[in-house]
Amino acid sequence: MRLFEVEALTVGITGSPFPILREVSFYVEPGEVLALVGESGSGKTMTALAAMGLLPFGIEMTGGDVRLEGDSLVRTGGTVERSAAQMSMIFQHPTSALNPTMRVGHQVGRVIQINQRLGRTQSLEAAVELLKHVGIPGAKRVARNFPHQLSGGMCQRVMIAMAVACQPRLLIADEPTTALDVTVQAQIFDLIKSLVSEIGCGVLFITHDLGAVAEMADRVAVMYGGQVMEESPVRDLLAEPRHPYTRYLLESVVREVDHRVEDIGVDFALTGCRFGHRCPYVHEKCNGFPPLVEISPSRRVSCFLKTEELR
Ligand SMILES: Nc1ncnc2c1ncn2[C@@H]1O[C@H](COP(=O)(O)OP(=O)(O)O)[C@@H](O)[C@H]1O
Ligand SMILES: [Mg+2]
Repeated sequence: MRLFEVEALTVGITGSPFPILREVSFYVEPGEVLALVGESGSGKTMTALAAMGLLPFGIEMTGGDVRLEGDSLVRTGGTVERSAAQMSMIFQHPTSALNPTMRVGHQVGRVIQINQRLGRTQSLEAAVELLKHVGIPGAKRVARNFPHQLSGGMCQRVMIAMAVACQPRLLIADEPTTALDVTVQAQIFDLIKSLVSEIGCGVLFITHDLGAVAEMADRVAVMYGGQVMEESPVRDLLAEPRHPYTRYLLESVVREVDHRVEDIGVDFALTGCRFGHRCPYVHEKCNGFPPLVEISPSRRVSCFLKTEELR
């Protein structure tokens, strides 16, 4: 059984005909790292928030399903039915994701207290052990600090400790190192990798950085404009990108590309492919929404170009 599956997830501002996410589909197998990659504003965070049942006020899920180990997490109307106890999320800005008024040891301790039903003192001791385990030097002392007294990297380690304290089945990491220095980034990646193999959980790893994808992920789903363009094992995607957008994304790492496209008088925003206005292969058909179609047993692409043409 798939560990985690998002199927045709559609999310939008209440009352607006223009969806923010349009039929987003991907899955995570047990023990696997799936990277959700896309430029800023492509809908990665929104996807994670919808999956966690944490959509901001005024934004709702209007279609699709999210399943953890086969159980649907959503009721019609978009409320999360089962608590997200089996899913944890690490956020992009660790300092602001922590409670500024609470000592970090207590924050981690609270999670342990709730999840493992331990007493307050025991939870605090367990929290210090966990802070040690995520590589915080002088954990006992650090536990008494407030978030503002710690560096961004240390705060992210605290967040990670809180996330793994619940022994999640799925860990969602939303750009966990974007706000950190490059050297710290490598350490956080290593930490996530080692904890994941220890717990045996699956990971939804969100990033805009293809280097991080290559470093961390087994498979990748490429997003643009709230649409999943391509889903593929990482190696295949990097060697042979199929979707015109994926190609554009890979090319743009190497050099600045400018895809100027002739206006064919089609309003892509509402009904069509979200990449239509920038795609060099655009044609009339792209005015309809391209479904995510299997082009090989391990790859799916959302494009009207035929499989042969996508080679
Ligand atoms: N609170 C909000 N209200 C309305 N639109 C939003 C809100 N938050 C994000 N969006 C829009 O949703 C889209 C996806 O945003 P987001 O998921 O944050 O992108 P990413 O994480 O890939 O950078 C963007 O176009 C953004 O403008
Ligand atoms: Mg984001």
